[in-house]
Amino acid sequence: MQIFHTVSEIRHCVQNWNSTCERVAFVPTMGNLHAGHLQLVREAKRHANKVVVSIFVNPMQFGINEDFAAYPRTEIADCEQLAIEGCDLVFLPSIETIYAPTAQTLVSVSQISKNYCGAARIGHFDGVATVVCKLFNIVQPSVALFGLKDFQQFAVIQTLVRDLHLPIELIGVPTVREADGLAMSSRNGYLNEQERATAPKIYQTLQQARDDLLAGQTIADVEERAISVLTQSGFDVDYFKVARRSDLQSAMPNDDALIILTAVKHGKTRLIDNLRLDR
Ligand code: PAJ
Repeated sequence: MQIFHTVSEIRHCVQNWNSTCERVAFVPTMGNLHAGHLQLVREAKRHANKVVVSIFVNPMQFGINEDFAAYPRTEIADCEQLAIEGCDLVFLPSIETIYAPTAQTLVSVSQISKNYCGAARIGHFDGVATVVCKLFNIVQPSVALFGLKDFQQFAVIQTLVRDLHLPIELIGVPTVREADGLAMSSRNGYLNEQERATAPKIYQTLQQARDDLLAGQTIADVEERAISVLTQSGFDVDYFKVARRSDLQSAMPNDDALIILTAVKHGKTRLIDNLRLDR
């Protein structure tokens, strides 16, 4: 497995692969890899013969009071895991490589970035869209894989690829969970013992909401009950919303392809999760 830090090294390597008709799959990450990330790498190997993973903790997608400085950086262990998974190339750029001091360009996907995490984390999705666009241009993959745990992020990137006519196939990979249902996340490591013990309630509440919707309860009642259950369990609920999967607008009574989205603060840790529902 090769590890590169510069754009020219990556370009040179991918150009060589392209000249021998190798198909390149790309998995962007911020590192501190867990089984969810590794599932993306495994899936990438099914779609291409070369797999590139980037590890870059992107300052632009963190708000000023967020955890950029504290975000876990475990590149050596990450690279060891990636080598075991059969990753071909790791891109580990510096901040200056991605954001030249003279840079002036921002990528903003307006509508779909607005609500949910976009409302709570102003500028977050501009940071995600900008860095993903830069990484796509550097790596120039045929296919890129993202986790559906970050459902709104996936929708933002789908919109970006469509609007900018990027010749990249996107694949969404289902959420990988701990045995007790908690969605795997690098931020789970921030939870103390008691917070970790109660965190599975998030997924349980999503499942209950899905069952209640399928049993015919109204969207408003289901959202209200879920918020009340989570609040009573000690979570500070940012949002719990039933949305249309196609455009993430609030679901109407006769919409059938739905996604239930939630974000909560658990102690100091912000956690997100979602569950799809067809009715
Ligand atoms: P990061 O949080 O490191 O996640 C990298 C990729 O792993 C994302 O596509 C995310 O959705 C996926 N992922 C995380 N947890 C997962 C889980 N439990 N199951 C399945 N997939 C999971 O998301 C980012 O980094 C950044 O915003 C990034 C896209 C790299 C841009 O900076």
